[in-house]
Amino acid sequence: MATEDTKRWAEEKLQLVSNKVKKELERLGNAIPYIPFNESYTDVSKERGIEWWTNGFWGGLLWQLAHATGDDVFVEAAIAQEKRLDEALYLFRDIQHDVGFMWLHTAVAHYRETGNEQAFRTGLHAANLLAGRFNVDGNYLVAWNDQKPGWVIIDSMMNIPLLYWATAQTKDPRFEKIARRHANTVAKYLVREDGSVGHIASFDANSGEFIGLIGGQGYSSDSAWSRGNAWAIYGFALSYHHTKDPYYLSIAKRVANYFMAHIYETDNIPLVDFRAPKMPVIYDTSAGLCAACGLLEIAKWVLIDEQDHYERAAIRMLKAIEEKYANWNEEEDGIIGGGTEAYHRPATYEVPLIYSDYFFTEALLRLLEKELFIW
Ligand code: GLY
Repeated sequence: MATEDTKRWAEEKLQLVSNKVKKELERLGNAIPYIPFNESYTDVSKERGIEWWTNGFWGGLLWQLAHATGDDVFVEAAIAQEKRLDEALYLFRDIQHDVGFMWLHTAVAHYRETGNEQAFRTGLHAANLLAGRFNVDGNYLVAWNDQKPGWVIIDSMMNIPLLYWATAQTKDPRFEKIARRHANTVAKYLVREDGSVGHIASFDANSGEFIGLIGGQGYSSDSAWSRGNAWAIYGFALSYHHTKDPYYLSIAKRVANYFMAHIYETDNIPLVDFRAPKMPVIYDTSAGLCAACGLLEIAKWVLIDEQDHYERAAIRMLKAIEEKYANWNEEEDGIIGGGTEAYHRPATYEVPLIYSDYFFTEALLRLLEKELFIW
């Protein structure tokens, strides 16, 4: 349980988030934000396509605020975002493993909040698209569409809750069975003994045999990309949430302890990669914010004497990141700066990312016990 001081802090920040998001919404209309340029959002669907993996986070942020405040402005805007994503389903041009990020935050959140029937069907449609990516010999969900049918990435762990949701709704076990097989493959090949995590695992798509790890958005194939580690912490904690299989909680804790051991030296703000050369120093706040939500999820499921260990680390990260990187100027777009897309992509070092704002808001609401369970 967060202390009264922390709850006051979270309430204050939540009010600031809510005020600023309203202003951003006035400027955005129904555009989909990602990274602001010169403190101003553009519609990312025009630059990266309607299937871009982050296109659900703004909807998710709006649903979180709708749930917490009851303000219809957020509800209407969130539903309008969901309608925009229908085009992605119809085009089916570059739908990837990221359908959970896109539709858990929009259609499924809409269904959870209102019971809307069409939103339910859209959520199931997306779940079927994800299930269709399963490789039956490799026991994995294939990532991306770059003619790499043997590639699996750690980010997928945040998308499989869509499959758990589909089984819970339909009572058809296929979706959950696929999710569990995939999670077991990811745990076996991408999570290392020391709790660090690789980004990409490559398999022979015909035989299903493991080939090796490949460097992706982190420094190299044997490094520890911090956002990938955060996806693992939260993703495995969520697999535990849905299945109650203690193996998944043990993986989440192993990665969490690795992550926590690596943020002390950098004042509770994660580097973009924990196992990269000492210079240059590049941070990624998005990793810290996603990990904080994961640590708070783990704290819900561990014995009482361990809860503080995870919760305090989450709160330290949230406060450190907010203090150093929050921009509360309502005339400028983007709230939390310091997010980094990838180690080898200097053009997007330490910028505001839409999912940073999402995870920051979810974490505040978790501390206040007012969050909408999106995952
Ligand atoms: N899912 C892509 C990323 O984390 O950047």
